[in-house]
Amino acid sequence: MLEGKRLLLIISGGIAAYKCLDLIRRLRERGVHVRCALTRAGESFVTPLSLATVSGEKVFRDLFSLTDESEIGHIRLAREPDLVLVAPATANILAKMAAGIADDLATAVLLATDRPVMAAPAMNGRMWEHPATQANVARLAGRGVHLIGPEEGEMAEADEWGTGRMTEPADILAVIETFFAGAGRLHGRRAIVTSGPTYEAIDPVRYIANRSSGKQGHAIAGALARLGAETTLVSGPTHLPDPVGVRVVNVEEARDMLSACKTALPADVAVLAAAVADWRVAKPAKHKIKKDAAAGAPVLKLIENPDILASLSTATAGRPALVVGFAAETGTVVERAKRKRLAKGCDWIVANDVSSGVFGAETNTVHLVTAAGVEDWPPMTKSAVAQRLADRIADALEGVPATPTS
Ligand code: C5P
Repeated sequence: MLEGKRLLLIISGGIAAYKCLDLIRRLRERGVHVRCALTRAGESFVTPLSLATVSGEKVFRDLFSLTDESEIGHIRLAREPDLVLVAPATANILAKMAAGIADDLATAVLLATDRPVMAAPAMNGRMWEHPATQANVARLAGRGVHLIGPEEGEMAEADEWGTGRMTEPADILAVIETFFAGAGRLHGRRAIVTSGPTYEAIDPVRYIANRSSGKQGHAIAGALARLGAETTLVSGPTHLPDPVGVRVVNVEEARDMLSACKTALPADVAVLAAAVADWRVAKPAKHKIKKDAAAGAPVLKLIENPDILASLSTATAGRPALVVGFAAETGTVVERAKRKRLAKGCDWIVANDVSSGVFGAETNTVHLVTAAGVEDWPPMTKSAVAQRLADRIADALEGVPATPTS
């Protein structure tokens, strides 16, 4: 399964760096070509010579090395591997990754890569728990960086216990194996995902919208792309970075979202996670509506927006084999979702209870409602929900002929 894969291992400066030698040995036993990039701090914990010996490859260290650049170049180094793994990932390198700082070879490669990235954090427990590190990690996860660990246990400092130990090489290897086993399951498939809110103009300045950060939809697009699907994300306005490997079409209004979805057809699967505004203003004003004490507050006439989910679900030509809707509900969440599935004609509904604090949060508790019944998923991060949903989609499409593209 791992035979012939190419992995770039970025080693930053943590005491756990010595474990890399064991990890490299295990990877090579499975036929993986491992190339190492070592940060200057990393050199204090593991020598370039030991890494070169164990990996059987030259070790990359210097961004401005003329020989390295003429032999391979940091852009090729970033683009050639099937996977980039940062292990150990210190608080410092995670912060640089989150901020997009590229001040050495390792961070330049991380900024330049379009390959999947995993990171195995390793640091003192207090550094891990610091809000700055937690914010950086959340940002990276939202961007599709796959985090492995850290684990709880004894710290390098005597008598300290906490969360911050790097995951053991054997367990990191298991994550990599699972990743490659899953990769490619949606190869040759096309996916459409909607995400974020829509903005419906009242006038050139004001709009009607729903609360939505777009985190869940963006994570789903990223997860489908990681499984190999050619993914189009049709997104309303969000503050999120584009997920790696996804084609993004930015829209504002529901009608534009619908036409962008139709343009992106044919597709094998559509996951409609956008919080589309149900209504729009019948006649948006061409100029900013002025406050006029005499006339009083303006009265807005609203008309219904197209229902993108229902429209794709009931399309007679070009309906995706699998159409998945979302239902943000309060109260009897599952019952409402069941009714919504039938009313809209979609195959699955991912129902979530939004009674408290889902919008913009990192975690979500959802129920998957299908024709076969209801699955209650445990509370998970939005990226874990996305990963699990993408896996379920791959299961469901197994054996279903791929949609012809012309
Ligand atoms: O009817 P409701 O808005 O609760 O349905 C939610 C589901 O329908 C979501 O999947 C949402 O993306 C989709 N939807 C849509 N177009 C609309 C309204 C909702 O695609 N106009």
